[in-house]
Order: sequence, then C-alpha cells, then structure tokens
Amino acid sequence: MSELKKIKDEFLLKLKEKLSLLEINQIKTDLFGKNGLISSQFKKIGTLDETERKKFASDLNVIKDELQNLINLKISEIEKAKINQKLEQEKIDITLPERPFVRGKIHPVSQTIDQISSIFSEIGFSVEEGPDVENEHNNFTALNTPDNHPARDMHDTFYLDQNKETLLRTHTSPVQIRTMSKDKPPFKIIAPGRTYRSDSDQTHSPMFHQVEGLHIDKDINMGHLKGCLSYFIKEFFEVKKIKMRFRPSHFPFTEPSAEVDIGYEIKDGKIIIGEGNRWLEILGCGMVHPNVLKNVKVDPTKFQGYAFGIGIDRLAMLKYGINDLRAFFDCDYRWLNHFGFDPLDVPTNYRGLSR
Ligand code: DAH
Repeated sequence: MSELKKIKDEFLLKLKEKLSLLEINQIKTDLFGKNGLISSQFKKIGTLDETERKKFASDLNVIKDELQNLINLKISEIEKAKINQKLEQEKIDITLPERPFVRGKIHPVSQTIDQISSIFSEIGFSVEEGPDVENEHNNFTALNTPDNHPARDMHDTFYLDQNKETLLRTHTSPVQIRTMSKDKPPFKIIAPGRTYRSDSDQTHSPMFHQVEGLHIDKDINMGHLKGCLSYFIKEFFEVKKIKMRFRPSHFPFTEPSAEVDIGYEIKDGKIIIGEGNRWLEILGCGMVHPNVLKNVKVDPTKFQGYAFGIGIDRLAMLKYGINDLRAFFDCDYRWLNHFGFDPLDVPTNYRGLSR
C-alpha cells in the first residue's frame, strides 16, 4: 500500500469517530501543520523523478482535498450542534409568572390636580402653566397690586434678590397675565401649580398648590362665574346638591370680589360636604378688574370676565379626610401608600373621578 493511501485510510477512520473540536483541530495540525503528514508529502514532490512526480502530485492533491473537506464538514457540524444545544438551553418559558415588582403611588395632590383639570376641560377650559420663579411685575404690579399696596404684605413673599424683582410666585394669578399677554381674547383657561409663602403650621405650608381660573369673552358676567363654580364643586365632591355662599371680599385684581364658602356638617366623625350649617372657605374669585385687562392690552369696554383661585391642598384634604397639611410634604412612604392612588387610576369625568 502506498504511503499516501495509508495516511488517507488512517485518517478517514479517525474522522469517522465522534470527535471534539479540539481533537479535530489536532488532526488538522497533524495533517496540514508545518510538519504535518500531508505537508511533508508536498515537500517530497521535488525529490521524485519526472515519471512519478505528476501522478504523485495529482494523487496527493486529491487526498488533500478529500481530507480537508471532511475536516471542514466535521468542524461545521460540531459548531452547529453547539449552537443548537445553546438555543435549547436558552429557551424562554413564557408560561412563567411575571416577576413581582413594586409599583409607586400617585400623590393625592397630583391626583386632585388631574381631577380638577378633567372637570374643567369638560366645559371648555384648557390648561396653562407658568414658572414657579416669577417676576414682581407679573405677580403683583400687572395684577393691579402696585408697590406699597397693603395686599403685598399679606402674601409673605419669598424674594430671590435684593431689589425684590424676582420671587417665588405667591399665587397662580400671574399665569393670567402670562396667558393674556401672549394671545388675543377670548381666554378660557385654568392654571394649576405650586405657590409659595413664608408661612408654616397645621393648615399652612411654605409651598402649597393653587388652581387659577380665567374666562374672558364678550358678555361674561357673574352668573357665569357662579354657574361654573357650582358645577365644579358638585363634580369634584361627587354630590348632586351643594350649599354655596358668595361672601363679599377684596382682591386688587377683581371688582367685585368674593370668597366662596361651601356648607358642610360633621356626622359620625365624618365630614359631609353640601349639607349642614357650617361654612368652609374654599376659594377667592371675582370679575377681572379693568386695570388688569388694560395692563395686558385687552380692551375692557369690549371684553370682560371672571377669575378664581382655589387652594388645591385644602380640597384634597376635605375629599380624602386628611387633617394635617404638612403630611402632604413629609414624603412618608407609609402615608403615601395609604393615601396614594394607583398609577392606572387616571381620573376622567365619564368613568367617574374616584372608584
Ligand atoms: N390669588 C388669590 C390668592 O392667592 C386668589 C384669587 C382670588 C385668585 C380671586 C383669583 C381671584 O383669580 O379672582 O389669595
């Protein structure tokens, strides 16, 4: 048997066995490495005489191709098997239950703001926003509260510079100015947001929330204001009837001005809204002062309307039976877990605000 045939038979036999990638690579080196069996045979070609050389070289090439193909095939088979095995192991069992995760809660104030926005959007109000850091002009002067006006003292303002030009807004009313300055009437907006005053006790927090309302058009009167507020309070407290009283008051930016109280009583330690002989103040309102309209270049002989400002935290306290305002801002996780709302419980009018 020629040497070539011997090599071929020996390795064909070896390659039939079950081999690892390592073993195949070893065979590859044994055959085709620098001093491998096949490589050495190629070196021999030059030493043969002409008659033998051609046939030997041709036989050697055939054997080399055959063994090489076989080795490549084996390698790709092993790699394929390896991938299949991996895929088999990495199979995802989609019948497994979801991993439990802790879901956060929506703060009662955020939920209340969403409810308020939902109620007013039903009757055509859009939602505007303004910055917490305001200038003195928008917060006071443009709202008909000039320098030295006594109403300024009542606001316990946090000023941010020595000249008292920038401040943390003391109410959401400056959003009235911002809205009317950038557009033309009519206006029908609410503006919920954070407000700040230097004050802190069980019913006051230095940061609190208000929602501003503004409706300016031709022929808007106090009847519209009353209708709008009584609709809002009924919707918010989810009651059919409400006892409401308008008490004359004073705000520089409205004329006439009023504060609104709602009737309530305490039954079995629980507060019942809309009945009884007790009164609770919940908002300030009035007809927008002509000076305010002039300050934003709206002609008060053609347009007029009403505005109101509601304390959001107080409404949330009433609705959810929370008796200390400070708890809203303590960030106590246990409190939030108790009073907070499910993130999927988005308030809408048609589905009911609270379920
Ligand atoms: N800005 C007032 C305050 O914080 C509340 C208010 C009263 C707003 C009357 C109004 C309004 O828009 O018309 O005390």
